[in-house]
Amino acid sequence: MKLWGGRFTKPTNELVDEYTSSIQFDQKLAQQDIKGSLAHVGMLASCQIISKEEAATISKGLTAVAEKIQNGDAELSEDHEDIHMNIEKLLIEEVGPVGGKLHTGRSRNDQVALDMRLYLRESIVVLTDLLVQVQESLIGQAEKNIDTILPGYTHLQRAQPVRFAHHLMAYVFMLQRDADRLKDSYKRVNQSPLGAGALAGTTFPINREQVADSLNFDGICENSLDAVSDRDFVVEFLSNASLISMHLSRLCEELVQWSSAEFNFIELDDAFSTGSSMMPQKKNPDVAELVRGKTGRVYGHLMGMLTTLKALPLAYNKDMQEDKEGMFDTVDTLKGALSLFAPMISSMQVKKDEMYDAVQKDYSNATDLADYLVQQDIPFREAHAIVGQIVLYSIEQNKYLLQLTLDEFQQFSSSIGEDIYEALKPESVVNARNVKGATSRDQVKEQFHHAYHFIDGNKSWIQSYEQSAENSNFLSF
Ligand code: ARG
Repeated sequence: MKLWGGRFTKPTNELVDEYTSSIQFDQKLAQQDIKGSLAHVGMLASCQIISKEEAATISKGLTAVAEKIQNGDAELSEDHEDIHMNIEKLLIEEVGPVGGKLHTGRSRNDQVALDMRLYLRESIVVLTDLLVQVQESLIGQAEKNIDTILPGYTHLQRAQPVRFAHHLMAYVFMLQRDADRLKDSYKRVNQSPLGAGALAGTTFPINREQVADSLNFDGICENSLDAVSDRDFVVEFLSNASLISMHLSRLCEELVQWSSAEFNFIELDDAFSTGSSMMPQKKNPDVAELVRGKTGRVYGHLMGMLTTLKALPLAYNKDMQEDKEGMFDTVDTLKGALSLFAPMISSMQVKKDEMYDAVQKDYSNATDLADYLVQQDIPFREAHAIVGQIVLYSIEQNKYLLQLTLDEFQQFSSSIGEDIYEALKPESVVNARNVKGATSRDQVKEQFHHAYHFIDGNKSWIQSYEQSAENSNFLSF
């Protein structure tokens, strides 16, 4: 007999059970579901909707069910459709008919919205923590490579030299925006839908704030129709996850390129590389490739969720059961990628000499030659044209700028003096860029200081929310 079987005259078709059930994947919400139920039952007792003894029995039963599920001792079945009804069934088996009082004043519609929010807020804290670990691994490499210079690129053509630390710090700032977005989204996740009932609220004199408080929510969803049909927080998470994946995939692409023989700028540690079953010499950057590849599924889940929600009338519709797998998979995908990323970055070997060599074998100091001429009061546009000619000449002569003699330079401009050789050195070129945010040593160090500061901020945010999750006191009634 189904929990809702009263008005039915025959059993559901087996295929329908299979098709409509979600227990295969929503069992992931078991602990959140029980946590929510404990808070609900505590509130029912303190509002005198059920007795304290009944609440105590139900709570004990729920705790026992939680343990059984945790240890794999509970049978979760498609016959009971989803995690909510499976748990209710297990509870009734555990404590008898009084277990049937748990669902007073509640619907699966507000219950599932609650579970999703509890799951997501925990995941946001974990993911922010993992983001911080990646930021720290990047800063660690940046500090070690403050004096490592490599070509900076535009259009994947060598453009101007930059410090490797500067390049890595670009990702630290991207990840900081990601962390900020996650932290900001937490506020919208952290509102309690419980008490919205199926859609219109409930006739029982429940106390929504009490449940919200005991679960450490910041407040309650103010409109019951919205409370049960809002999945904006899932979309927002998937969107934030898409940006994180996009950022990681860009860095992955660079790691893949840099570790090729063509670039030869880094070597990934053996522990974070894989071999080929056929070609014995191969060492492949599989982790970086796979993180890059998995970006596809994360974007896919975002599109999937947006499309599922499009044009859904209020309030709950079964379509919304489709909100889970994409969210779970996204959380797992990001956890996997971020957990591997930090040690992969920390353990990679940076080939300083090869990077420096690359900088010396290009014309990426051409802008500096033009800037030098500008300092001799030649208008920039004219200087640009002169340097264009010098580069053309150098290419013909098979030389780089630093290999030209002073005579050769002076054929193009008499304003060029002996000091040009100092000005065109990679170290001078990077240090000459000393405006805020640029690649000089001082400015890169300045970036470190900003980063230490916002990473500290991330860490204290994580700490306070970890604590508030632990301190949920849903057992006090
Ligand atoms: N398994 C459902 C879901 O995840 C729970 C809510 C179902 N509510 C309902 N009235 N059918 O969306």
